[in-house]
Amino acid sequence: MDKYVIRGGNPLVGTIRVSGAKNSALPCMAAAILTEDEVTLENLPQVRDIETERKLLESMGAAVQLENGDARHRTTICCRTLSEPEAKYEIVKTMRASSLVLGPLVARAGMARVAMPGGCAIGGRPIDLHLKGLEKMGARITQEHGYIEARAERLKGAHLVFDRITVTGTEDLLMAAVLAEGETLMENCAREPEVSDLAALLTAMGAKIEGAGTSTIRVAGVERLRGARHRIHPDRIEAGTFLVAGAITGGDLIVTNCDPGHLSAVMEKLRETGARVDVLGPDTIRVRAEKRLYAADVSTEEYPGFPTDMQAQYMALATQAKGVSLVKENIFENRFMHVQELVRMGANIKVDGHTATVRGATQLSAAAVMCSDLRASASLVLAALVADGESILDRVYHMDRGYERIEEKLAGVGAQIQRMGNIFPARPAGQP
Ligand code: EPU
Repeated sequence: MDKYVIRGGNPLVGTIRVSGAKNSALPCMAAAILTEDEVTLENLPQVRDIETERKLLESMGAAVQLENGDARHRTTICCRTLSEPEAKYEIVKTMRASSLVLGPLVARAGMARVAMPGGCAIGGRPIDLHLKGLEKMGARITQEHGYIEARAERLKGAHLVFDRITVTGTEDLLMAAVLAEGETLMENCAREPEVSDLAALLTAMGAKIEGAGTSTIRVAGVERLRGARHRIHPDRIEAGTFLVAGAITGGDLIVTNCDPGHLSAVMEKLRETGARVDVLGPDTIRVRAEKRLYAADVSTEEYPGFPTDMQAQYMALATQAKGVSLVKENIFENRFMHVQELVRMGANIKVDGHTATVRGATQLSAAAVMCSDLRASASLVLAALVADGESILDRVYHMDRGYERIEEKLAGVGAQIQRMGNIFPARPAGQP
């Protein structure tokens, strides 16, 4: 199992480029199910979850071409034949976003069989709201042997009000609605940029959608959709992770190929801690931290609030900020798995329910630590970049799910980070 060896202490300086958004690419790949024609996606991140979704689509009979060389960030998907409209447990258990195929499969093939996702490192993550919406659109839903089966000759437009805001739930039902008969009105929708990105692709395929990116989406169902070509927008969470990397190391980083418009809450919070954050252009942000960072409270919220996917990374930064920072997690019930590992590195963090109290600044000391999920891993990488000595991060396959070649990107701006296959425990600071 691969590990990272990271020696802390170097300020990150230079230019770092953001890849395409994993959480946009996943629903966009699922959207290809909605048409017999080819869908071509550009700026696809080369990460494990994309590879998993390719396998998922292929297991249903789709042809998925993931290109190599210079064109490696492009894929062409053709779902002319969907011989097996099913998401098997072997795949769903490794990637919960697999449930995104539910809506498009029922809409296009009239039926879907999707393994029920089990527990997850960051919380329960049920898909009851996806099912409730499909049922309202006329699907018959049954559950047995760990699978959900949904059937409908043709889905019917409906008035859907989400009981709580769900990102993939909004995307799943949006994909169901575009081929439904009549109009669908969706309220209390997620406003995340990933929903807008998906809607842009669906619109290019011929769907009639109004209001994506707001909490009310109106869809006029059409009989069929055509193929399209679409460029995935930049990954705002990868960009945010790099902004924290620049600030936490006292560096001077220029983050390119990002969308500053999607990063307002993160940039504002970093400014509050004393980092200097400047938008240099439509796709470029510069972050600098020349002086001490100060504590600032954060509370995760749905977009446009501070993203839960940045909470763990922000917590690493809070350990380096003077004062007490309260970090409140409102979206997931159990997203503090990184805390114990940060504490092993010397951080002073206490968790009470949904709130972590971080007292800083503490000099972190290098240690062998364990990654537990994607963003927790990112938090540990950031902590290791400022720790005294050499840290070893185990289970970096979590990182590979959503960050493209991050070790190369960080090394390119001065981080001492290496990926290793099989290595011995960490050396304490100061030892050669
Ligand atoms: N929820 C329900 N019922 C549902 C759906 C959601 O109770 O049917 C609850 C969840 O348990 C959670 C809350 O609603 O407490 C919000 O969950 P949401 O459905 O919005 O999360 P998701 O769609 O499963 C996506 C991202 C996550 C990101 C969240 C929140 C993708 C593929 N995943 O998950 O990304 O944290 O939205 O923004 O888009 C990550 O990239 O590391 C990641 C976990």
